[in-house]
Amino acid sequence: MAEQRQAPTPQDVAIIRMTEHDLLEVVEIEEQSGLSRWGWAAYYAELQGGNRDLMLIAKPSQSVIGSAPIAGYIVARETAGELHINNVAVRAEYRRRGIGSALLNRVLDEARRRKANAAFLEVRSTNLAAQTLYEKSGFKAIARRADYYSEPREDAVVMTLVLG
Ligand SMILES: CC(C)(COP(=O)(O)OP(=O)(O)OC[C@H]1O[C@@H](n2cnc3c(N)ncnc32)[C@H](O)[C@@H]1OP(=O)(O)O)[C@@H](O)C(=O)NCCC(=O)NCCS
Repeated sequence: MAEQRQAPTPQDVAIIRMTEHDLLEVVEIEEQSGLSRWGWAAYYAELQGGNRDLMLIAKPSQSVIGSAPIAGYIVARETAGELHINNVAVRAEYRRRGIGSALLNRVLDEARRRKANAAFLEVRSTNLAAQTLYEKSGFKAIARRADYYSEPREDAVVMTLVLG
């Protein structure tokens, strides 16, 4: 009989730092999630810089889920005390289990540890799932950027959170 694989919850995943070995799966998730494209080379370059500890993956714990793939990831950058969330995505079959929130909150904790003052992000104006996720962690919409995104063309909502 085929082994039944259960999707992990935050209790079953470890939030750990991304490494170069994770990038093929990270790019696969990016491509499946409708994010603006970074691709392997951009993630690889980001891993070589000073923001490595703001690049995290959600990894199902081996004891619970055999050889399950990475469930999701987040990539952020801190410059002059400002955290910028660049990408966060969870595999479609693992969504609504708190994994996106777990990734976001871990990166916010790391930014607070670094004494960053505030976090910023842009999100597609129609992406209500992501906007709700961010609001749950305390982000507020502060501005709208017309035609910020292409393919499809769409406004961005700018959201911020005071960390200090
Ligand atoms: C946005 C995304 C990362 C959320 O990941 P997730 O693991 O499903 O998020 P969580 O389970 O932690 O959800 C936290 C809260 O966000 C809100 N939320 C998440 N997905 C939602 C949806 N489809 N519709 C409405 N609210 C949603 C809910 O309030 C949810 O809490 P609840 O499940 O207790 O109601 C995921 O949907 C995704 O990968 N989307 C595609 C990529 C993307 O849009 N990234 C953001 C770019 S700015």
